[in-house]
Amino acid sequence: MNSGELSRRARHLVRRFFGSLRPASVEMDDVDWVKSVLSGPEYALFDKMTINDQAHGVSVARDVASQLELSPRSWIVAAALLHDVGKIESGVGVAGRVLATLMEPLIPERFVPRATRLPGWFGRVGEYLRYTEAGAVLLASVGSDPRVRAWAREHHMPPTRWTIPADVGRVLQAADDRAS
Ligand SMILES: [Fe+2]
Ligand SMILES: [Fe+2]
Repeated sequence: MNSGELSRRARHLVRRFFGSLRPASVEMDDVDWVKSVLSGPEYALFDKMTINDQAHGVSVARDVASQLELSPRSWIVAAALLHDVGKIESGVGVAGRVLATLMEPLIPERFVPRATRLPGWFGRVGEYLRYTEAGAVLLASVGSDPRVRAWAREHHMPPTRWTIPADVGRVLQAADDRAS
């Protein structure tokens, strides 16, 4: 990760950290909209996310939908709603999330599997480091569009590693960075 990417991630982390301290809510209108975008099994996963992560997903998806002319069932809206879904597997609180996000750029990818084998809370923090991969696996299990799965896996990777169209990735990433 280069220094520009690192500072972008750091700014994103700070915004998400303070956003996570604010009480979040998802309005009924938003719930109806999310249900109209996602399949039933996808919505069941979305519903397991914390209310804060649901509100974040809705905010990213509304932002993206307002910029692109999308059909209501577009994979791009689903990708925005579900990009962080792997966090439902981690079971760590805000402190663990912050620690994991700070550690993420510093730990080479090949060491992450070892971090998941640490005992107790540290192991769960290690597990959180794999939430993007965990999200892609969860989405595969409910038959999500391959591009929705890809964005769950790739949304913290540099653009050179994206498999979704780069112009769409840039819109999704910018909306993710703006959202608290
Ligand atoms: Fe994320
Ligand atoms: Fe996000």
